Parts: sequence; structure tokens; C-alpha cells
Amino acid sequence: MTDTTATGPTTQERAETDLTNRVLASFAQTGDERLHQLMRSVVEHLHAFIREVRLTEDEWRTAIDFLTACGDITDDRRQEFILLSDVLGASMQTITVANPVVDGVTESTVFGPFFVQGAPRIPLGGDIASDAPGQPCWVEGVVTDTHGRPVAGARIEVWEADDSGFYDVQYGDGRVAGRAHLFTDDQGRYRFWGLTPTPYPIPHDGPVGHLLAATGRSPVRAAHLHFMVTAPGLRTLVTHIFVDGDPQLAIGDSVFGVKDSLITTFDAQPAGTPTPDGRDLHGRAWSRAAFDIVLAER
Ligand code: BEZ
Ligand code: FE
Repeated sequence: MTDTTATGPTTQERAETDLTNRVLASFAQTGDERLHQLMRSVVEHLHAFIREVRLTEDEWRTAIDFLTACGDITDDRRQEFILLSDVLGASMQTITVANPVVDGVTESTVFGPFFVQGAPRIPLGGDIASDAPGQPCWVEGVVTDTHGRPVAGARIEVWEADDSGFYDVQYGDGRVAGRAHLFTDDQGRYRFWGLTPTPYPIPHDGPVGHLLAATGRSPVRAAHLHFMVTAPGLRTLVTHIFVDGDPQLAIGDSVFGVKDSLITTFDAQPAGTPTPDGRDLHGRAWSRAAFDIVLAER
């Protein structure tokens, strides 16, 4: 039906192209040049998609119902549209485009929906776990700029799921656990106790979960610990560290967040191994990870 004949486009093709062109023209008065570019491009790609797959009206309605369900489940604690962006790789593609690789600079990854402003401050060597269950993990490193100069006073936000795969905001009782912020010392060093990360599923009881199930995809994320690092004059870094040897790395991360440079050794420490700060873990096993961070100039 849409085949171009030797004599040129068919009537059907002309109708479809003409519609796209009229929609594009409707944005001609857009004052903001960037907005104009974005609207033109989204219309071009959306129309091309509809035409390429020969979208049916039923399918279009299903898509609208899906987006409506995303809106219905979204509130101040659940953001289904971010989840959708994440599982489509749109979040990671935006991060990849917006943070061009700079030699030596620590790579960024997906922010996710579980960051909370105002997490408690801990001293260097403090514990972010609070009463979140999991195996203790000592994390340490140094924050530098691209010239290797230590960044003193960098603010490090860290957050992670417990060993059942839940963030504190999912407990539903207002507890704060598994998150904190701390500042680097004069030599750019930081250290804290957290939990050895374990794989967990992203929230999958809503429309995005149904989409994953319908497409045979797993909701599970590779085990990770979130970081956000800010320092004056330097580019803010949003990233994670992943656990070398985590089987989920081979299976795949449901939001495409893994970058090889972020895969970190978490050294298992048998019960009874002395801790770096003399903390008594009462016979529990623990792990330790080192993660040095290089921030780009703005
Ligand atoms: C997270 O790592 O916390 C996360 C990222 C994307 C979607 C859901 C959760
Ligand atoms: Fe996470």
C-alpha cells in the first residue's frame, strides 16, 4: 500500500507525508529555537514510527491507556515515568549524551527514583546502614580532579537497598536507613560503613512491570551502591559502583546502568577479620571496597 511506484509516491504516501509536514509547519512560530528543534524532531520521529509499524488504532489506544496508568500510579513516592524512561534505556542514553567520556573521569550512571534530599550527615568512617539489614561493607577512596589534586570538602551522598532489596522509602514507616552524606577530608579521602550490595528488582507491580513481563524481561538490577558527589567548580557526578562477580552482571541490568569502569571488587572478609577502624562486628563476615573518584571540571 505504501510502495512507491515508478511514477512517484502513492496517494496514501502523499497523505501521510502531507500530514507530517502540516504538523511540522504548525510549530513554525516557536520563538525558542531549541524548543522548535525538539518539537520538530519529536514529531518527525513519532510520525515515522507510526508509519513504519503501520500502527493500528487499538494499539494507539493501548499506548494511551498505558501512559494513563503510569500517571495514575505516580505520586510523591512513586515515579512510574522515570521507571519507564529507565527500562527503555532513555535515562542512560540521556546521561551518555550529556556526560561525554573524558579520559580518566569517573563515569556517570542512572540516578534512579530512590534518592532523598536531606539524608543524615555521618562523620568519616560512620555507618549509613542505620537499621537496614545486610552484611557490613567498608567503602573508602579519594576524590580528585583531573589533575590528580585532592578535592577537600566534596559532598558525597550515598544510598542503597538493604539485603531484601528495599530502600528505606519503600518500608512505608518513614524510617531513614541505608543512606547518608559525608564530606571528604583535607586530602580528599572518604570512608564509611555501608552494606554489601545485593541485586534487587525495580518496582514492577505497575504498568512498567507489566511491560517487562509482556516482553520477557527481568526487573532485576545488578547489585550496586549509589553515589552523588558535588564540589564547587567541578561537575556533579551521579554514579554507582557495581559488584565484581555479581551473576546479574552477565544476565543484564534492567535499566542498562552498568559501565565496566564502575565494576568494583568487593573483597569478602571472613568473620573475625579485623576491621580497618577496629569496629567490633560481633563475629559477622564483612566486605570492603575501594572506589577512587575523579571529577571533571565544569
Ligand atoms: C535504582 O537503582 O535505585 C533504580 C534505578 C532505576 C530504576 C529503579 C531503581
Ligand atoms: Fe538502586
